[in-house]
Amino acid sequence: MNIKQLNEEGRELWNRKAGFWDALHGDGGNHFHRCLVEPSVLQLLDLRDGESVLDAGCGNGLMARRLARAGALVSAFDYSAAMLELARAHDSAAGASVDYRLIDATDEAALLKLGERRFDAITCSMALMDMPAIDPLFAASSRLLKATGRFVFATMHPAFNSNNPIFMREKEDRAGLVSQHYAIKLRTYLDMPPVKGAGAPGEPTPHYYFHRPLSELLNAAFAAGFVLDALLEPAFEADIPAKAGSLDWSKFRQFPPILSGRLRLG
Ligand SMILES: C[S@@+](CC[C@H](N)C(=O)[O-])C[C@H]1O[C@@H](n2cnc3c(N)ncnc32)[C@H](O)[C@@H]1O
Repeated sequence: MNIKQLNEEGRELWNRKAGFWDALHGDGGNHFHRCLVEPSVLQLLDLRDGESVLDAGCGNGLMARRLARAGALVSAFDYSAAMLELARAHDSAAGASVDYRLIDATDEAALLKLGERRFDAITCSMALMDMPAIDPLFAASSRLLKATGRFVFATMHPAFNSNNPIFMREKEDRAGLVSQHYAIKLRTYLDMPPVKGAGAPGEPTPHYYFHRPLSELLNAAFAAGFVLDALLEPAFEADIPAKAGSLDWSKFRQFPPILSGRLRLG
């Protein structure tokens, strides 16, 4: 399958699972979003009142609404019409005002129609790994941003999370002291073709993940003229009580499931 076909299949899958995603996250996000994604993006973004922000791959508008509530002028886009419908419904209930657009992140020309040198910041929260091509988004972003602008992303950590980790729990009895250890086993990092993943527990349709080693991910941004000036690797600091006994990421505190970074125009 080529990039266009993968992208169209992805769009169809996201349209089909929009309702599930919305029920999982609601207006404020699940524990993963609230504990890891949102704090790291907000820290890196360091938003100032009245700034103009574009949220790329906005889903049901979680991040876009959060930024609008913090005083930003927010535009947001997604290629899933079903997601945008849910985002608009949340906004009208919450009194937030985001300008939502149906745009495909792999279509550079469509992105540029948003207006060159218009945005102080672009955010892309947990969507890069869902896109079969990221060069068009970085290329367009380098022109959509003001010269002093920043691009803040959060994505599945390429070293630990987007390459199908195998989760392990071991029990050890050392001289009567019983302990449990959590570890992950990796088989692939450098070369991994697009594979469908189950996503969050209970997702109705698996969708493609596009794993990129760190060099591939960051070189795509560097090629578009960005430099990386901050990086965060947030991990859970405590168990999630509702997940007792599971192999949830909150058990693997030595491994950051996401990587968040801030890029600026060089
Ligand atoms: C995992 S969700 C994240 C949604 C939101 N950013 C958040 O943090 O909750 C990924 C989103 O990326 C969108 N997406 C994936 N590929 C896209 C593309 N090529 N163009 C625009 N949106 C895309 C999906 O429709 C989906 O809403």
